Amino acid sequence: MPTDRSHQMQGHLHRFVSDLCGQLRAGPPAESAGCRVPAGCRFPLLNLRHALFPRQLRRKLRADLVTVLDAEQPSPTALKYWPADHRSPDMLIASSPDDAGRCPLGMPIPPQALWIGYGRTPEEYVESGREHVERMRDILRGSGFELPAAPRILDLGCGSGRMTRWLIQEANQGEVWGCDIDASHIHWAQRNLRPPFRFFTSTTLPTLPFPDGHFDLVYAGSVFTHVGDLAQGWLLEVRRILRPGGRAYLTFHDRHTETLMKTPAYSWVGASQELARYGGLPHDLGMLVLDRWPERGQTTVYYDHDWLRESLAPMFKVVEIVEEAYGYQSAVVAEAV
Ligand SMILES: C[S@@+](CC[C@H](N)C(=O)[O-])C[C@H]1O[C@@H](n2cnc3c(N)ncnc32)[C@H](O)[C@@H]1O
Repeated sequence: MPTDRSHQMQGHLHRFVSDLCGQLRAGPPAESAGCRVPAGCRFPLLNLRHALFPRQLRRKLRADLVTVLDAEQPSPTALKYWPADHRSPDMLIASSPDDAGRCPLGMPIPPQALWIGYGRTPEEYVESGREHVERMRDILRGSGFELPAAPRILDLGCGSGRMTRWLIQEANQGEVWGCDIDASHIHWAQRNLRPPFRFFTSTTLPTLPFPDGHFDLVYAGSVFTHVGDLAQGWLLEVRRILRPGGRAYLTFHDRHTETLMKTPAYSWVGASQELARYGGLPHDLGMLVLDRWPERGQTTVYYDHDWLRESLAPMFKVVEIVEEAYGYQSAVVAEAV
């Protein structure tokens, strides 16, 4: 039987949770949302209130709060990265690789939950990565860029290494890194593709743990299609870690993407419905960011070519913009100057 005291505590608990819900629901402005749920931590307010609650209620409060945070949609400014299985206080990354299917290169294939919609079968998933890397190689070569014998390459926003795995020769001769803000992907990749590849979990803040000029090539397949407010900072950071003369290869959505998404071949793309809901790309498009506050979902970003060129200047020289470089996405090849 609950005592009066525990009833009173339950009351405190529910008031606190609903108060926090209200704050989260209030959402933007983005800057102040970051203060309400302090950066990088989902439970700081809870910690402040710990003293008010006995142990079992603290546990319940924490569980309630996780449920609430899952159901609500806090602004992405409060989420610096996505921890793997954030409901568990403990974490184990096993040292043994997966013994599920292997790709033609002999490397394990991630479980479907980590495919991010690339393919319906393991073969399609693997093949899609090969196609996107081959296309990138062709475009870079066609634009006159050759990698050195022992290249340094970063796959920014690599997921579980769908593209990264096809750079095995470069990884054996030089350094190939992958990073992502989603730790579940990175843990799988560390367990299954390292060595020869290297992986780390990064954050939504435009900062990467490499010295200036470290890389010959930084590529990002369908990442700048999801980076909103911080896009300019990310371009600056990509420039910082490239050597002069190095290349950035970044895929993005543009007007050509919009045209393609209206064709039956791409009617399955979720982004086409989001764009239709918005009413299509405006005639004065610079950069359009849709669905800015998804919990573990994806913001979708569209660029006008001139706006992108302006964003890349003066730290990059745009070598080429290629439509349909990555499915319905275009790619910009930019030289670090
Ligand atoms: C559509 S997926 C593409 C994955 C991979 N590039 C590929 O082509 O298979 C976009 C990925 O970018 C990651 N991402 C989004 N913003 C990022 C950021 N600022 N830094 C690093 N990764 C990011 C997401 O977590 C997601 O794994």
